[in-house]
Amino acid sequence: MRGLEKYTILGEGVQSKVVQAPRKDERYGDIAIKIEATSSEVYNLSILSPQNLTCVIKYLGSDDDKDYKAQLLYMEKADHGNLEDFLKTLEPEELNHNLCFNLMEQIIYGLLQEIHPNNILHLSVKLANIVVFDETNIKFVDFGLSCYMLLTFKREIDTPERLTNLSRIAPRRIKAFRDKAKDVMETTRNINYIKIIISPEEDIWGLYTTLYQLLFNKSFNTKEGIKLFDTLIKSRRSHLNQAIWYEKFCDGIYQYSRSKVRESFESLSEDDPLYTLKLFILGYMDTYLNTDAPIDIEQLQQDFLKLR
Ligand SMILES: Nc1ncnc2c1ncn2[C@@H]1O[C@H](COP(=O)(O)OP(=O)(O)OP(=O)(O)O)[C@@H](O)[C@H]1O
Ligand SMILES: [Mg+2]
Repeated sequence: MRGLEKYTILGEGVQSKVVQAPRKDERYGDIAIKIEATSSEVYNLSILSPQNLTCVIKYLGSDDDKDYKAQLLYMEKADHGNLEDFLKTLEPEELNHNLCFNLMEQIIYGLLQEIHPNNILHLSVKLANIVVFDETNIKFVDFGLSCYMLLTFKREIDTPERLTNLSRIAPRRIKAFRDKAKDVMETTRNINYIKIIISPEEDIWGLYTTLYQLLFNKSFNTKEGIKLFDTLIKSRRSHLNQAIWYEKFCDGIYQYSRSKVRESFESLSEDDPLYTLKLFILGYMDTYLNTDAPIDIEQLQQDFLKLR
């Protein structure tokens, strides 16, 4: 596209590619260009980034660009790439309590105090979608799945297949799917009527699994978890009773998350320098999975700040 592929590739995802622009910008230095960004990504970034939010990468396009079909997203380039790759370059002792606390603080604060209050849901919170300028400065990228919260009624999820990968599913919402499925099956007998509106809870689960990966140095969703998810999805075709399949699917995902949290709990050691931070995140994951109470964002932040 427009010959941009020949430039240095900074990152590649399922749908798009991010390259480095050949020339520096006078003000922002190196520029990253995302090729074929969605119009909602450009639009949502153009809402957030002019406000100089600390957590969001600077969008360098003009207002007129928002309407372009083939989107080129111009942004400031982060020198250290994404956080997932960056963490791999650190020695284990470098990833100490202070550094983890600092990174976690920025991620929590950025999502809950800056992105959500602007009515944007990110919906793809993970280490690979956070870029690193220097250790004390990280920012969110990849608003490709993000949506404007006041318009979430347009972003209903109809079937779990649409969720495509395990990390994007908030297990508690999966449970809600199941409960709703029961209602729908009783009244309409058609599984295709099950719809759930996306809410900030999706991002909260993404936040938890991201912090988990940061602290435990491994993904919350293991290969077995992903295999389980695929098997459950595939078994849909062979199930005659869709309602039963739905229940099995929802329970499978939910139980997987619960056992994963329990297993991680049991492996904790008080000698671990990251013990209190790990305990914090597992506690919040456990509460998320085991209660239906709304998430108290303020409490979460207060509890976190005590761990400094
Ligand atoms: N501004 C940036 N500076 C440096 N590296 C970046 C920047 N933006 C993105 N990258 C790198 O490119 C990778 C892919 O970017 P991004 O996540 O936006 O696209 P994607 O994953 O292809 O999107 P999608 O998930 O919609 O397919 C990131 O993981 C990161 O490593
Ligand atoms: Mg990405």
